Amino acid sequence: MPKANVTFENVGITISVPAGTRLIETSEMVGAGISYGCREGECGTCMIRVVSGMEHMSVRSVLEDKVLQENMAGRNNRLACQAQMLGGDIVVRPG
Ligand code: FES
Repeated sequence: MPKANVTFENVGITISVPAGTRLIETSEMVGAGISYGCREGECGTCMIRVVSGMEHMSVRSVLEDKVLQENMAGRNNRLACQAQMLGGDIVVRPG
């Protein structure tokens, strides 16, 4: 099964996960401390910044895009409860 390597820059932890894993699940596994609320892509609480590797992330859904826009997100922001890692090396941090 393809793997993705994700680094949580704020805690200095890198972990290899199966492709398709959502960022929030991985954050919980390693204790990276990304806060969340609804886990359904509606509240915007779980917004994170992708430092590198955005090309290895799932594309934004219409809902994720809408919530990110409502939260004045930049193009490197994603919702950790929605964004899936599809492979390669990815670096993220809160906010
Ligand atoms: S936890 Fe609510 S949008 Fe991700």
